[in-house]
Amino acid sequence: MGPGAGLSRDLPAPSAARLAADVQALERLTRSDRPYTRRAFSDEDRAARAWLAARMAEAGLAVRTDAAGNVIGRREGRAPGEPLVLGSHLDTVEEGGRFDGIAGVLAGLEVARCLDAGGHRLARPLEVIDFTCEEPSDFGLSTIGSRAMSGKLDAAAAARLRDSSGRSLAAAIDSVGGQAARLDEARRAPGSIARYLELHIEQSASLDQAGVPVGVVTAIAAPSRFRVTVRGRQDHAGGTPMAIRRDALAAAAEVVLAVERIAREVGRRMVGTVGALDVRPNMVNIVPGEVWLLADFRGIEPAAIDLTVERFEAAAAEVAARRGVTVEVVPLMRDAPLEIGADMVAEAAAAAEAIGVPHRRVISGASHDANHVARLCPIGMLFVPCRDGRSHCPDEWTEPADLAAGTRVLLELVLRLDDHLT
Ligand code: GLV
Ligand code: MN
Ligand code: MN
Repeated sequence: MGPGAGLSRDLPAPSAARLAADVQALERLTRSDRPYTRRAFSDEDRAARAWLAARMAEAGLAVRTDAAGNVIGRREGRAPGEPLVLGSHLDTVEEGGRFDGIAGVLAGLEVARCLDAGGHRLARPLEVIDFTCEEPSDFGLSTIGSRAMSGKLDAAAAARLRDSSGRSLAAAIDSVGGQAARLDEARRAPGSIARYLELHIEQSASLDQAGVPVGVVTAIAAPSRFRVTVRGRQDHAGGTPMAIRRDALAAAAEVVLAVERIAREVGRRMVGTVGALDVRPNMVNIVPGEVWLLADFRGIEPAAIDLTVERFEAAAAEVAARRGVTVEVVPLMRDAPLEIGADMVAEAAAAAEAIGVPHRRVISGASHDANHVARLCPIGMLFVPCRDGRSHCPDEWTEPADLAAGTRVLLELVLRLDDHLT
């Protein structure tokens, strides 16, 4: 796509080849022994942050790391004012993909490059952000950078939360260039950001199936997560009659199936997953004495989420009573789903329309940093397709042409918001 590409300013268009090269560069900054793994606070995370800071500087952005470790590139506007902010995350899940989060950070960088190369200064400042630890961490929390920015995580909580090795979240934040003792400095006031825009891969199949390159997101689901500990009685697997066993794993298996059943029964777009489980002592000839597992429920409707959680807690209590074990259910996080404002949805659709990019409205089943930034300002989200809807797996794939089309819509949306808000 040549200069212009239908954009409302005479600017170079986002380049699919450059975006693909960026994806490849970040692909190299993952663990060599696990496909596309770059967990937050790891050496790979630090390497990716350094890579991004260098690319941001080349694009003419002034780079800093805030107290929460968020990497921020800023381009001043023609006048002072609240910035337009583009962001997402570079951390991945275990054996994650090459695009989840990464697509949005690279799209923001590419927008900054196009503005820089075209010599176009927006009326207001532009910021591009790589948020710290969007994915789940061993501290029981995800979306750590955007949580801190929106005032939902303070220095005391960061000092208190520990991973299984005893390291504090504060130490982890400091290890990527943050200053957890001064976490409040990362906090931004409501109204201090003009608009937040996040491009992301869909992580579901609707765009891919329809052959449409851009989704305009209308609502974002949010997770409610629980740590469940089942305590039974550790016994000999040969000598203990079935009638007197208190098998923690058999009870946990019922809890796992209850998660699946309840999400299905409640319906209304609820989903439920047990994605992690640990058995003690985990030997073939021992009746398990203790099991912990992590359960994750998502939904768009607050009433459906409430009903699901209520039924889940009741089911856990019922399993405990019937099997003579204890089932402790500890809530880890409960985020609120988000309906995106009609104005922003219309603006985003109009931007796509204006530059001739086919689009459709979609809902996000995954959660995003945008859920938290929405406390500070109106937010907008654009999706690009991922092949067969696959994500959080090594097969995750987005065509560079689709990523470039989404980035072009993002750039046009920035230009239009900058005009309309001024
Ligand atoms: C983020 O990847 C999420 O769990 O939705
Ligand atoms: Mn993810
Ligand atoms: Mn993501």
